[in-house]
Amino acid sequence: MAAYLVTGGAGFIGSHLAEELARRGHAVRVADSLITGKRRNLAHVSSVEFLEGDLADQAVAVRAVAGMDYVLHQAAIPSVPRSVEDPIASNRANIDASLNVLVAARDAGVKRVVYAGSSAAYGDTPTLPKREDMPPHPLSPYALQKLVAEQYGQMFTRLYGLETVAIRYFNVFGPRQDPGSPYSGVISLFADALLEGRQPTIYGDGGQTRDFTYVANVVDGVLRACEASSVAGEVINVATGDRISLNELLRVMNGIVGTNVRAIFKEPRAGDVKDSQADISKARALLGYRPIVPLEEGLRHTIDWCRSDRAAAER
Ligand code: UD1
Repeated sequence: MAAYLVTGGAGFIGSHLAEELARRGHAVRVADSLITGKRRNLAHVSSVEFLEGDLADQAVAVRAVAGMDYVLHQAAIPSVPRSVEDPIASNRANIDASLNVLVAARDAGVKRVVYAGSSAAYGDTPTLPKREDMPPHPLSPYALQKLVAEQYGQMFTRLYGLETVAIRYFNVFGPRQDPGSPYSGVISLFADALLEGRQPTIYGDGGQTRDFTYVANVVDGVLRACEASSVAGEVINVATGDRISLNELLRVMNGIVGTNVRAIFKEPRAGDVKDSQADISKARALLGYRPIVPLEEGLRHTIDWCRSDRAAAER
């Protein structure tokens, strides 16, 4: 048994990590500001220690990290458009807090920090699939911030010998992803619209593609990154290695829900990337990772969860 800190553990991906770690019998502490996270995301995981606080405050980071073996740094304001509208707030959450966590982890003698990086760092480089050795080309403050924090991690490995690994996520989706804001992930917004019989919005012509990754795959990749040997200082894509357009995604989701709802098309969003698809050969080689839940199965789980969540909210 080891002690794990999950920052952002009351959020979508963080709560899945906390749940799986607790299931495996580890000691889990969650630090979350509850700016976007929710206590109810952890309501079913009784054994987790909860620390409410903002990691952009160094004293909070020190308290959060104390006594931990591993730090899974997931806390962030995870939105491209939100970073375009308010780059200062997202810089504070995505860079200042990350630096605080790294310094605190170094000082506390943590074994390894696994960081939630983003495929947004690749930007619009024309080559697909995206390989970790391609030069990054961030198109939004969010993408830049995720890249900077990733590089801070690598620098901490070189300068101080703190083991860090950055896992680049590609459009993660699944239960507990909140459809409650225009900044929410597109699958949560499409699911919510279809279940209400509303028309979802597509920004642009719907031809843009993404490597949508079911959350269980990411949990598996991140937990492998805690245990793998010879990965300190590495940046590793974790995704499915496939891509689908938004138009096709909507068609598949309509099929699962049993609807035939069309989209409303609007102007493309500023800072949006056209195509995204991961090369996952590095994750296969270094982590022994392979995607365990394919897209359509993940979509079914997600839509089932959205249905029951909506039913619970109505009761
Ligand atoms: C997403 C993640 C980001 C992550 C990145 C990694 C979210 C909210 N953002 O960014 O944290 O680092 O992937 O790849 O999960 N769209 C619509 N209609 C909508 C909403 C979105 O057409 O109602 C479009 C967007 O313009 C974009 C695509 O769907 O082209 C995906 O958008 P979104 O789910 O917000 O994710 P990314 O911006 O790709």
